[in-house]
Amino acid sequence: MCGIVGYIGKKQAAPILLDGLKKLEYRGYDSAGLAVRADDGEVSVVKAKGRLARLAERTENGALLQGTCGIGHTRWATHGEPSEENAHPHKCMDGSVTVVHNGILENYKELRDKLVRKGYTFHSQTDTEVIANCIDYYYKKYKLGPIDTIARFMMRARGSYALAVLFADCGDAIYVARKDSPMVIGAGRGEMFIASDVPAILKYTKRVYYIENYEMARITREGVEFYNIDREPVEKHAVRVKLDENAAEMGGYEHFMIKEIHEQPRAVELTLNSYLNGEYVDLSECKITDKFLETDEIVVVACGSAYHVGVVMQYVVEKLARIPVRVELASEFRYRDPILGKNALIVAISQSGETADTLAAVREAKARGIRTLAIVNVRGSSIAREADKTIFTYAGPEIAVATTKAYSAQLAVGYLLALEWARIGGRVDDVQCAAYIAELRNLPQKIEKILENKQSVQKFAAENSTVNDVFMIGRGVDYAACLEGALKLKEVSYVHTEAYAAGELKHGTISLIENGTLVLGVLTQSDILEKTASNLEEVKTRGASVVTVSFEGAKIPAEAEYAFTVPGTHELFAASLTVIPLQLLSYYVSLQRGLDVDKPRNLAKSVTVE
Ligand code: AGP
Repeated sequence: MCGIVGYIGKKQAAPILLDGLKKLEYRGYDSAGLAVRADDGEVSVVKAKGRLARLAERTENGALLQGTCGIGHTRWATHGEPSEENAHPHKCMDGSVTVVHNGILENYKELRDKLVRKGYTFHSQTDTEVIANCIDYYYKKYKLGPIDTIARFMMRARGSYALAVLFADCGDAIYVARKDSPMVIGAGRGEMFIASDVPAILKYTKRVYYIENYEMARITREGVEFYNIDREPVEKHAVRVKLDENAAEMGGYEHFMIKEIHEQPRAVELTLNSYLNGEYVDLSECKITDKFLETDEIVVVACGSAYHVGVVMQYVVEKLARIPVRVELASEFRYRDPILGKNALIVAISQSGETADTLAAVREAKARGIRTLAIVNVRGSSIAREADKTIFTYAGPEIAVATTKAYSAQLAVGYLLALEWARIGGRVDDVQCAAYIAELRNLPQKIEKILENKQSVQKFAAENSTVNDVFMIGRGVDYAACLEGALKLKEVSYVHTEAYAAGELKHGTISLIENGTLVLGVLTQSDILEKTASNLEEVKTRGASVVTVSFEGAKIPAEAEYAFTVPGTHELFAASLTVIPLQLLSYYVSLQRGLDVDKPRNLAKSVTVE
């Protein structure tokens, strides 16, 4: 997704903007640009296609752009191919309005046609240039100043946006507006910051303001004034973010992904400990009562890896609490007019808390009067603020596009919720609950143990990095782990990988198995692992190379070329351990293939557009 930064203060803006954009690289981008207002009021724009290094080179690390007020942008193309022309910032036709934008203006064609009829010309294929000209049109037509102008734009616009705007004749101020796309405003001493995400400004301040949908703000060196769409002032107080800047740094690791893989023991431990009180689950910090949790229908809505957490939850919650759980892709849920019982409970899972589809699913549920519970990693994010209740994970900032520690922390919350529902429903007593919790408390050290033996995965990856087709199969919770393992391998190493319920393979897809096809089987569920072993035999007789992931010491009735083992745990919690070799495998194959493992092609850390 696009990244936005802004600065106004006493220092030169350009180097600060470049530094902020670097912290947002993980969001994914294909071009970047800066706009800086010089002391004489002239706003200069420099843009570059490709990596930020090219923009830094063009501006001599910002030295060529003099001025203490500016905005910057990394673009993840939605309208118009990646190019310098389409990169942001965009100016209006006469150059008096400069805009950066994260989101999609859905009615940009209609607005562009209207502006062309009014005499405007366009140089790019972007919806953002339409925004710049639209704002300029309203600014000149009504002559009521920037806030009135932006309010008129917001009333006319359809879609999502986080905007930062410079008006050439409006002196030293940056104007911002937001609908659905993320934005925070940082407050320093005599300087102010804007960013799409907190890590971009943590270095400078931990005091932030959250701007809500349909709100605007005027930002000057002295501070910030908020307004609603009716141009009425809105009182807000800055909050102190609890993240430290190092958390968003590499910390001596070669890549964020491997750093965050190694942070999983801590992420799981911190998350568990935040919601355990001795041998009891304690969600009082989230103001969640038994009454709120009581339901006869749980619907998990999420995307990508968060969806895979939901699939694990479905098995675990149904097994322990005997409450029906269905897991829906948020992008489908939001448009299929789902049937929901009045007593249903929607569980929205999202690391970023900004995924457009998941946010829309939460809004759809709320519009129907259905309770919403979010499991989110990023404090202050949209989903966290809009859901009725939120359980935060304590994974810390996750920078690599491919999620690992947040996924594991979300699993931990899923187990705790399963135990709460089981307790409320009288399905487990205190002794049984205590036993489950005791085993959960062992997960961090068991993850640690797997990581200590990562060389076996590294060796396997080196020997198999040229593989082109991989299948990952399992049953029950093992199948859910395969879903996540397959996504990991696809997204960071670009290897075509299919996760399959082992029993489903023979219903068509086994036709793809040929000599050398790699089939990885996850086998931890004692009551059905023999079935999966048979499926592995079936593919082996058709030429597949078989790899297994199982519990240490377990007898696996399958001949495998390679066998990874993980420490034993309660089978319902197995995914927390079996996923670790799969994460490591994806990381090392990506390295072997010389790929940008933290910023895979075409991907963004948070998909804030549809
Ligand atoms: C996972 O590695 C991917 N980055 C992606 O599938 C991600 O899980 C998905 O986009 C959902 O993001 P969220 O958790 O921030 O909502």
